[in-house]
Amino acid sequence: MIDDDREILRTVYRYLEHVHRVSVDDSVHRRSELADVISDHLGVDVTTVPVTTEALSLHRYVDADIALDELSASGDGRVIGVTGGDQRWHLSASDLLSSTHGRFAPGPISYETRAIGPGAERRVVAFGVRLLTFDGQPLAVVQRASSPHAMPPTARLELFGTDADATGAALAEIRRLMVERSVLRGQVLSFTPTEYGSHAGATFLPRPSVDADDVVLAEGVLQKIVDHVVGIGDQRDVLRAAGQHLKRGVLLYGPPGTGKTLTVRHLLSRTPGTTAVVLTGSSIHLVRAAVEIARTFAPALVVLEDIDLVAADRSHSNEPVLFDVLDALDGLEPDADIAFVMTTNHVQILEEALAARPGRVDLGVEIGLPDVAARRRLFEHYAGTLPLSAEALDAAADRAEGTTGSFAKELVRRTVLRAALRGADQPTDDDLEASLDDLLSSGAALTRLLLGGTESLSSN
Ligand SMILES: Nc1ncnc2c1ncn2[C@@H]1O[C@H](COP(=O)(O)OP(=O)(O)OP(=O)(O)O)[C@@H](O)[C@H]1O
Ligand SMILES: [Mg+2]
Repeated sequence: MIDDDREILRTVYRYLEHVHRVSVDDSVHRRSELADVISDHLGVDVTTVPVTTEALSLHRYVDADIALDELSASGDGRVIGVTGGDQRWHLSASDLLSSTHGRFAPGPISYETRAIGPGAERRVVAFGVRLLTFDGQPLAVVQRASSPHAMPPTARLELFGTDADATGAALAEIRRLMVERSVLRGQVLSFTPTEYGSHAGATFLPRPSVDADDVVLAEGVLQKIVDHVVGIGDQRDVLRAAGQHLKRGVLLYGPPGTGKTLTVRHLLSRTPGTTAVVLTGSSIHLVRAAVEIARTFAPALVVLEDIDLVAADRSHSNEPVLFDVLDALDGLEPDADIAFVMTTNHVQILEEALAARPGRVDLGVEIGLPDVAARRRLFEHYAGTLPLSAEALDAAADRAEGTTGSFAKELVRRTVLRAALRGADQPTDDDLEASLDDLLSSGAALTRLLLGGTESLSSN
């Protein structure tokens, strides 16, 4: 009996050993081929290594790719792609390493092209695994752009390293390189909102080129704005040394077509090398992303055009978007060299918000309808070298009461067109007068409205 018992126990033991072996084999098989390659690189089973995830905003993805390229170059790295179907975009890196969800294996690298400047592009790794060495330690980084169908869009890095300190240091170095080598620095950027409240990445705008002479405003007005926006930046060292704040908010208000946007374009041309984010209309909702860029890449300019367009909107927190804008301004460190420039047609709509959040805007400038002297300068400016007499320009300026800068531009265009249509090389004073008659006639009330001004259609 005792011998029998021993035999049974031996059999049970062998059976348990067998079960153990099978389960160990199984767990090896549950690792994907991708995990095998990464494990070889790390020198340990990657499925036992902790993962560090870094979420990326879409507009920072290129910067991450550049940082990883640099880290790879110095860390003797290589990049491998991943095959195994579209679900690879939606699974966490840990899931890619097990074979439960599919057969993920090394394969071709997915690339995408991304803008890195106005008219410039770069090929980035859209899905890949970087195998490199950092601080003498092996490191694997799964790099993913936003998946094609993910809404809201997400992009991320997942780092696998055996040494927690080295992995932390690698991430810090990636973040540092992302700022130092950023393609956003010094650019003029814009965002297009998606229906999910986020944006589809940054758009690079060419920096405008508008001279001070091209902006015709009442005496001293442009200078006042330039001093506040550009001058404070130029004097940043003096101001900082004296403990004065650099952050500034300017509100340009006035009727349509009077040169607010033109003034902004002049400010952008006066500040080469400054990072600028220009948001208009519904993209103003993205003010927080703009502020984050401004803070990271100061000196910076944040332009919020036509902010009255969002006056009635509410943000996620059910606060008016305008409050969000003003709070974003307030959240910035006072010594950050950041200028906010806002434009609006309807300053009264903003009054409540500005009163509820005082101190954010430290200069308000009215860009009003041009007076007769300014109209005269506008007509002369747009007439350029055309042979129009001083008297004719004077007379036109006198008559064009209540019109705007865009009206002046259109008047000269029509004058030139009129001459061309009658076969003349150059316009005459008569062409100017007749074109003005035309634009001031009651039949042109809608045109005048379209060119800006204060007159309403019903008052005609
Ligand atoms: N003060 C000005 N000096 C020179 N040109 C002007 C001026 N105002 C308007 N213009 C001409 O009219 C165009 C339209 O003006 P702009 O876009 O700056 O108006 P705005 O004040 O921004 O109007 P809105 O409130 O409708 O946005 C300018 O591109 C420019 O050609
Ligand atoms: Mg405008």
